[in-house]
Amino acid sequence: MPTRRRVLGAGLSVAGVGLTGASLLPVLNAREATAGPAPGVPAAGAAAVQLFAAAMPIVPVLAPVSTIGSVDRYEMTMRTVRKEILPGIQTELRTYNGQFPGPTIKARRNRPVVIRQRNQLGVDTSMHLHGASVPPSEDGSPMDTIAPGAARRYTYANKQSHASLWYHDHAHHVESENVYRGMHGSYLLTDDEEEALPLPKGEYDVLIAIRDANFDAATGALVYRMSDRARTTLLVNGAPHPRFEVAARSYRLRFANHSNQRFFELCLADNGDMVQIASDGGLLPRPHTTKAIYLTSGERADVVIDFSRYPVGTKLVLKNTGFGVVEDVSQVMRFDVVRTAEDNSSVPAVLRTLPRLPTPTAERTVVLRMDEDGRADPKAYIDEKLYDPARVDAHIRPGASEIWTVTNANTKAPHNFHMHLVQFQVLERGGAAPGPAEAGLKDTVRLLPGETVKLQATFDAYQGEYVYHCHMLDHSAMGMMATMKIG
Ligand code: C2O
Ligand code: CU
Ligand code: CU
Repeated sequence: MPTRRRVLGAGLSVAGVGLTGASLLPVLNAREATAGPAPGVPAAGAAAVQLFAAAMPIVPVLAPVSTIGSVDRYEMTMRTVRKEILPGIQTELRTYNGQFPGPTIKARRNRPVVIRQRNQLGVDTSMHLHGASVPPSEDGSPMDTIAPGAARRYTYANKQSHASLWYHDHAHHVESENVYRGMHGSYLLTDDEEEALPLPKGEYDVLIAIRDANFDAATGALVYRMSDRARTTLLVNGAPHPRFEVAARSYRLRFANHSNQRFFELCLADNGDMVQIASDGGLLPRPHTTKAIYLTSGERADVVIDFSRYPVGTKLVLKNTGFGVVEDVSQVMRFDVVRTAEDNSSVPAVLRTLPRLPTPTAERTVVLRMDEDGRADPKAYIDEKLYDPARVDAHIRPGASEIWTVTNANTKAPHNFHMHLVQFQVLERGGAAPGPAEAGLKDTVRLLPGETVKLQATFDAYQGEYVYHCHMLDHSAMGMMATMKIG
């Protein structure tokens, strides 16, 4: 585990991700000057927002249009809507079904889901189910797009174990903007193993999808600029810096970072404990008590927080303490403890047993680097190459279990690393065993400047071409994406 000091130091260099040398200094200075707004004071930013004024929405679960046999069929329309996100002003969004964020799909292992997507937007789209094991035809790969006016079906067999997955746009060249403008939602896959545990369930199992945004103060429009440092409004389940009324009992909170590229370090304002129980690929082997949850763009982490330790009437801010506090994004949301409630839930000491890693059959290295010399049109590379959908960068034998050593070669820019198709295991971070937060299955890992992570992935499910990339979507749009071919 990194020490607190090192993490904060790293936070400095990653504040306002995608930094260039020219922009680093003001960040350092601003950090010294501000400690973030006091509760109740509007956050600074393009459009000011009253903190904790909005109630946090619970993202609705989409109902299937039919269930035939064990197959749940859904229909979604990708379309533009105008919605009130900031009080009194309409914001245009690109959505799934007119909802922001997109509706939650609840799926069950071995129970297929079929989603018919109609594209009524003016741009190409491609729906990717992040973290899912699917054949290439269903992966929503960058070139496999749905043209405006067209429709297609995605089929998800759900053969993998439980996980908090999410879906988002992935159309080549426009995915970063499409996701930013609203095309992201959650897909919660459960199974018997997970359901058998006495964890908090039902209304006490709550998705908390966080992302940042830059609103034009005058028009309410979402401003999209590459590597924008002014995305200082945090939206939680679509509402700006909301409050969530909780009972004084345990909750399972499913944190998901749906930002294009912001990294979070989430802490409770009283420095209280959170018990992390799951990461990208489902439950951790055992619960992990921590003060901080690190969440780079695309990552998920489920925690259990026991609010019974607070008296009714407590207002507890969820803070972002690590990354980007200089931009006044230090206050994410607030939990208001408003009532007591019964609680039969508990967190078992053992959550799951992960299958033993097979003996690795191959090793390879991956180097992430982007231009960070302040040039006007920076590009981003994997192994010094820009993404070319026509090129295969990694040839993988079917059934192989490979060790990938992934390095961030930048000195200022952070990255993370995401692979389609697989849930991998982190073997090492910086030459040492990973911490407990990374002891489960992962599909996206953090790579701060200079960091190296060793991971192992097994390619025994499907054959064909899939991408891997930095999940700071502005970086992947700058070229930091590559193709692997299994078979
Ligand atoms: Cu969230 Cu290419 O993925
Ligand atoms: Cu993905
Ligand atoms: Cu990156």
